[in-house]
Amino acid sequence: MEASHLGDDLTSIVVSHQQLETRIREIAADIDRDYADIDKPLLMIGVLKGAVMVMADLARAISIPLHMDWMAVSSYGHGTKSSGVVRILKDLDIDIKDRHVLIVEDILDSGLTLSWLIRNLASRGPASVNVMTMMRKPDAIKVQVDARYIGFDIPNEFVVGFGLDYAEQYRHLRDVAILAPHVYQH
Ligand code: XMP
Ligand code: MG
Repeated sequence: MEASHLGDDLTSIVVSHQQLETRIREIAADIDRDYADIDKPLLMIGVLKGAVMVMADLARAISIPLHMDWMAVSSYGHGTKSSGVVRILKDLDIDIKDRHVLIVEDILDSGLTLSWLIRNLASRGPASVNVMTMMRKPDAIKVQVDARYIGFDIPNEFVVGFGLDYAEQYRHLRDVAILAPHVYQH
């Protein structure tokens, strides 16, 4: 879906699909280099559902062997602010013991979800845990999270597109755009 199809639901595009594509290729090259010498395939863990687009594009730009698995956690419900309460809705299928794990996230906002997830995965005995996040909102951070790979720093506004939703809508928008407040302020 193109931003032009959404009329006044979007106020502006923050990251265009061309920018996403270019940055993903750069990050894939970094990952190829950083994990060149590991003994088992890199295990990329996507956080459903927002990370589906990032995972699909990033994985296909990577050349080293890799496995993919998915987790679903919930921290937001239908609102636009993190509750800080994280629940596992779907756990991993693959045992991550002694594996090099790369968490793939759509967005690092308050950091509550990722800091919880890193702790949860670290407790399962992996060889390493790192984070790739497509977007980060530096002004929203409440808990420090070390993300090794960061796509773009963006303003502290609610955004949709490239996997990110508002009440399940707009995930298939090709760009990342600011959602007009009139859409969620009723
Ligand atoms: P926290 O605050 O825990 O948030 O770092 C992480 C999760 O919250 C969702 N999120 C957003 N979703 N537009 C969205 O569509 C946003 O601007 C936004 N900010 C946070 C997202 O699912 C992320 O994984
Ligand atoms: Mg979401």
